[in-house]
Amino acid sequence: MNNVLITGASGFIGYHLSLLYLRKGFKVFGIDNHNDGYDVKLKKWRNSQLIKNKNFIFSKVDISSEKKLTTYFNNFKKNKLDAVVNLAAGTGVRKSTLFPNSYYESNLMGVLNLIKLSREFSVNSFVQASTSSVYGDSKEKSFKINSETSKPDSIYAASKKASEVLLHAYYALYSQNITILRFFTVYGPCGRPDMAPFIFTEAAINERSINVFGTGKQKRDFTYVEDIVDGIYKSTKLKGLNYLNLGNNRPVSVNNLIKIISKLSNKEIKRIDKPSTPEDVFYTSADISKTIKTIKWEPKINLEEGMLRTYKWHIENNKWLRKIQVS
Ligand SMILES: NC(=O)c1ccc[n+]([C@@H]2O[C@H](COP(=O)([O-])OP(=O)(O)OC[C@H]3O[C@@H](n4cnc5c(N)ncnc54)[C@H](O)[C@@H]3O)[C@@H](O)[C@H]2O)c1
Repeated sequence: MNNVLITGASGFIGYHLSLLYLRKGFKVFGIDNHNDGYDVKLKKWRNSQLIKNKNFIFSKVDISSEKKLTTYFNNFKKNKLDAVVNLAAGTGVRKSTLFPNSYYESNLMGVLNLIKLSREFSVNSFVQASTSSVYGDSKEKSFKINSETSKPDSIYAASKKASEVLLHAYYALYSQNITILRFFTVYGPCGRPDMAPFIFTEAAINERSINVFGTGKQKRDFTYVEDIVDGIYKSTKLKGLNYLNLGNNRPVSVNNLIKIISKLSNKEIKRIDKPSTPEDVFYTSADISKTIKTIKWEPKINLEEGMLRTYKWHIENNKWLRKIQVS
């Protein structure tokens, strides 16, 4: 049996990635610190679903603690883990302005602890979740993997870029297999309650109003979570140091997202317009030509289909979801 360690396993993408690996017959070691970056009930729900499978082994560990992470790794023999996928991170862009230190502890020191231990324990492949935010307020039509990434607009983006730079040094020194994946606005069932697709869907179902920052004309390259986890899975097989974009390559405005959800719910969503915040960029779009060539990956789910699946999940889980704090 193959073994994979997924950090941030109780998070949105970590949950879906764990399910994918379990379906493929892997033993999944999931870790998460269940922090209160957003309503922890959602993280606990995801974990409660995963631990039903006997091949999912959960431990509550904080990757930013070198001591605790080392104690955790000491349970494994060398060569035991085929891959480490690091999804654990402080994630909200706006929140990173309020808690810069904690973002750096998880998003940079956490990566240092993990890559160091991955080397010591001869892990074959290390995959790091990075983000389209590293491209800053780019004016390119599609963000190419070699485009400018040294001018971030948020603490979150800066911390993610810093981790990319650190991993480059690790590769230069030790030639570990490292893949850096830049995800573009991920959405789907059991998503994040601090992101628009979740907030707007809950608002439509429960007839609440939404805050729209800026004009709503800002575009995002919304990417369905099943496509993202498929890309992560394929990336763990790569050798050497690789950088890839995982994005849909079809940016859609926030106003259009609202229209799609209104149509699905057959309800007008009441909006309150708010000024845009300095951390927000106007546009994101992934150039995925290198990804297609390197791992033969292309997104399969468009926004209408992905939001339909997401909407259905919200309806099926409406009773307990109503108690989730959105932010
Ligand atoms: N969702 C997106 O649109 C998106 C876009 C670009 C990049 N990413 C990246 O993908 C990864 C997963 O994102 P997500 O959307 O699933 O976010 P998420 O917040 O749902 O998941 C992250 C998980 O990591 C855990 N965590 C945070 N710090 C930790 C620490 N120090 N130790 C252990 N666990 C810790 C959290 O409790 C959470 O469950 C993140 O690295 C994020 O930066 C996400």
